[in-house]
Amino acid sequence: MGSICEGWINRHLTRRPLPQYAGRGVVEKPEQARAMGALLLGKPVSDRIRTEVGSEIARLAPHAAYPPGLAVILVGNDPASAVYVRNKQRACEKVGIRSVSRLLPSDTDEQTLLGCIEEFNDDSRIHGILVQLPLPSPEHEATAIESIAPLKDVDGFHPLNVAKLFEGQPYLVPSTPAGILELLALHQVPIANSRVVIIGASNIVGKPMALCMLHHNAVVTICHKYTRDLAAISREADILVTAVGKQKLVTADMVKPGAVVIDVGITLVEGRAVGDVDFEPVAEKASLLTPVPGGVGPLTIALLLANTLKAYKTILGLA
Ligand code: GUN
Repeated sequence: MGSICEGWINRHLTRRPLPQYAGRGVVEKPEQARAMGALLLGKPVSDRIRTEVGSEIARLAPHAAYPPGLAVILVGNDPASAVYVRNKQRACEKVGIRSVSRLLPSDTDEQTLLGCIEEFNDDSRIHGILVQLPLPSPEHEATAIESIAPLKDVDGFHPLNVAKLFEGQPYLVPSTPAGILELLALHQVPIANSRVVIIGASNIVGKPMALCMLHHNAVVTICHKYTRDLAAISREADILVTAVGKQKLVTADMVKPGAVVIDVGITLVEGRAVGDVDFEPVAEKASLLTPVPGGVGPLTIALLLANTLKAYKTILGLA
């Protein structure tokens, strides 16, 4: 196998290693980057994925009646969700994906939401459907996700796609864990036989990340709010992924020297996004660390684009 996740998901993406990045400078040798506690920046990986997705869409254009189409459904007016949706739409336009958004009021009933999803399921110009979470009525989430056509489920949240990932035969993998796999692969971080600790057991990040790591032959532990002595477990990690949304949850004493630390947490502090990791002290100890912002965030959107392209190719029989 050429690299750790080659061929497993999004087969059209290349996995030529990136130069190592430390802050804004490029470090010549990987060992030098590791000695400095280098930043794992998402943007260079995201830029490459977006370029590849854009080129592939352009290449396929003569073979298809329509370009790929992504429908994004946003219920309510949560400002953070509105920003995420806008960013997703802009990213789509840049690579040639037609993005259609449907904004529904916060008091939308379940039938109306399901009707909207059904409309996109039946629309041959739409190849990906995403319902932005959380919904103002969380009790509608499971039914909404289950009503998305599995082939168009670009979030990879439908039970059928969850089952495919569980089996190790993934179709669409949730974009944050998929992005983290790309980041690790392009920076040549070995996963097989590594001890991976994931803090946070959400359906969006923690659980699918654990399955991805397991399928790459890591020894995986998932921790959550009931975990006793979190520090003792996290200190064992060669790769530590935290996805909780609690500022300074991960302090330097919880990190093994030389560990790779992936920070998926986002908390707004005085209008500024901060991660779960106590950044400066952990940067001194880790070999590689994703910053917030600028780490995992850009990858999530890039992998959504890659998933939309994958759904498009599958639906059109171009895969
Ligand atoms: N809310 C936070 N992250 C995500 C995501 O990846 N997909 C959707 N649909 N909603 C989210």
